[in-house]
Amino acid sequence: MSNLVDRLMAAMTLEEKLGQLNMIDAGQPPYEREELHRQIRAGRVGSLLNTYGMEDVDAQQRMAVEESRLRIPLLFGYDVLHGHRTIFPLPIAEACAFDPDLWERTARASVEEAGRDGLTLTFAPMLDVCRDPRWGRIAEGPGEDAHVAARYAESKVRGFQGSDLAARETMAATAKHFVAYGAPAGGRDYGSADISERQLAETYMPPFEAAVRAGVAAIMPSFNDLAGVPMTANGALLNGWARNRWGFKGVMVSDYTAIVELIAHGIAADIAEAAAQALNAGVDISMQDQAFVLGIPDALRRGLVEMETIDRAVRRVLELKARLGLFDDPRRRLAAPPLTQKEKSGLSALAREAARRSAVLLKNERNVLPLARDTKRIAVIGPLGDDPLQMFGCWFAAAGFESATIVQGLRAALPGTEVRHVAGTHIYEPGESGIAEAVEAARGAELVILALGETKEMTGEAQGRGHLDLPGSQRALAEAVLALGRPTVAVICAGRPLTLPWLFERADAALATWFLGSEAGHGIADILTGSHNPGGKLCVTWPYDVAQIPIFHSQRPTGRPANPDVYFCNRHVDLPIPPQFPFGHGLSYTRYAVRGLSATPDEFGPDQTLQVEAEIANEGERAGEETVFLFLRDPVAEVGRPVMELKAFAKVALQPGERGKVRFALAPSDLDYLGRDLKPRRDAGGFEILVGPSADRTRLASVKVRMRADG
Ligand code: NOJ
Repeated sequence: MSNLVDRLMAAMTLEEKLGQLNMIDAGQPPYEREELHRQIRAGRVGSLLNTYGMEDVDAQQRMAVEESRLRIPLLFGYDVLHGHRTIFPLPIAEACAFDPDLWERTARASVEEAGRDGLTLTFAPMLDVCRDPRWGRIAEGPGEDAHVAARYAESKVRGFQGSDLAARETMAATAKHFVAYGAPAGGRDYGSADISERQLAETYMPPFEAAVRAGVAAIMPSFNDLAGVPMTANGALLNGWARNRWGFKGVMVSDYTAIVELIAHGIAADIAEAAAQALNAGVDISMQDQAFVLGIPDALRRGLVEMETIDRAVRRVLELKARLGLFDDPRRRLAAPPLTQKEKSGLSALAREAARRSAVLLKNERNVLPLARDTKRIAVIGPLGDDPLQMFGCWFAAAGFESATIVQGLRAALPGTEVRHVAGTHIYEPGESGIAEAVEAARGAELVILALGETKEMTGEAQGRGHLDLPGSQRALAEAVLALGRPTVAVICAGRPLTLPWLFERADAALATWFLGSEAGHGIADILTGSHNPGGKLCVTWPYDVAQIPIFHSQRPTGRPANPDVYFCNRHVDLPIPPQFPFGHGLSYTRYAVRGLSATPDEFGPDQTLQVEAEIANEGERAGEETVFLFLRDPVAEVGRPVMELKAFAKVALQPGERGKVRFALAPSDLDYLGRDLKPRRDAGGFEILVGPSADRTRLASVKVRMRADG
């Protein structure tokens, strides 16, 4: 492979080299179709984004490999974030399944479809830890916790890339957005992140490090600046941290027009300076702004870049193409036999499994759920009850236009039940004229499902929200229906936690479904009818009020902890202290108990692994699967350690009355932390290990252990 790359490198003109660093959005200006094709034939474009499908990909790939001088194949990139044609739950939802195996399987399944559409590079996984649900892109990532995000990163990279990138069932993955993109000021997208170096290292770096260790092929620097240095030009982190410290060998692809935006960021005067800064920092591919093609020749003349730096970037791009097997057979993925009906059904079944395992049952009182199978009349009220376009969430462009709605799911599951839907109001246009009809429908029903939330367009990029309540007139609709006193279940469809304390107080049950994808309605019906016992747990702390943000489980301790009975303490005087629901919260239709927690040895040397074990009992009447969390508390260290730090999680499936064991191995490095000098330290002394169903401390079993100073 390097022979081929060497030969090409030796044969390429500067223009052809810069072409390899040029990624163009096939559907957008500046190039009309004909012009784009001329550029491909001239070797001035090395990769495309937003083109997929046999016809286009094949035609454009042929232009590159048959008509360009050096016959270098194109990369085809796309945001295959949570499925390609079959759409799986949004990442924030799927993270709530806490199942690395599921995360890997859905990524692999996406490749089945995306590869057949000719795609070779996905701009996923999105690994931005986020503790601010105002930020719309919280929907695209795995939640608030660095450990969860790191496990998610490894699974997704394995799922997309398999063990050999050249195999047909793979695509190159991109760990994005590097780094701290999830911490913009005010939750406004693209905004500055000004966080401490400790926070950066402890919270935002681990998922990217995990992706690199798993062999991720590409990294995308984020749009934002970090304390004044835009990530697209942040050499200390791109080259310094990812490449030198972690040994990342792959390609760095800029975000969309991010290089030219360095001018607006205020660190470059013109495109030559912007291009030089990005290239010198470690970026290899410019996405859509043609910054390298347009800016580098001038930058070379002005001495802002070295030829050697250009060559290194070009070599990395060619090597990725070689690793993907594109030089051997650029049509390999396209030529895969079409999916059989059986394979397609398998994908739908996986989407349904992922959907029902990702929803989180937040509340369930008066045994309203699972609903009685002989219920004669159900009223589904609300604008999200039967809108097939709404269940996808952001990034679903290659999907069909139909996802299963809640109404469809219930009708299919309960053929003998009358399921009536009244939207009652719209989300975007406030209006109360439909409320009377909704109330009438609810009055005649034995059970009411309130299908409320935000639209999929309110999630994702540029969708920061200042208020996290129900948009439009949905609250008026819900209150009118709740006033009837009928058994009522709130089904909340949203890309983030919504602050709805009044609804959680008054509805008998509440199910957070996020956006569950193609099979959403069936997955939701599986839970409502009890054919599936819910097991999803929150991967984010659910705030009670926007003013509590940022709120997350691994807060640092304070000298004056929050206490409702103490005057001088760490709280808002006009808000409850706890969140609405803690990280890890999620109910099921059975009851679990954690017993017999032990950690051995209870005194150990600094290089010894600790074995932690607990018994989980299913004390209810239904089979189910419980997620068990292991948190660490280090009470005395050189710097204050979080009140709890997630170190592991595990799942146990149990029949009614059954007991099972969870076992965790805590490696010595799990007890490390960054000292005052930000270097890893391992201190002797006591630790507390907490095991249980969520980050609610009152529900955790705990055991104390001690590390000796010697070996
Ligand atoms: C901008 C987004 O920030 C990024 O996540 C995405 O991959 C690119 N656009 C390409 O669609």
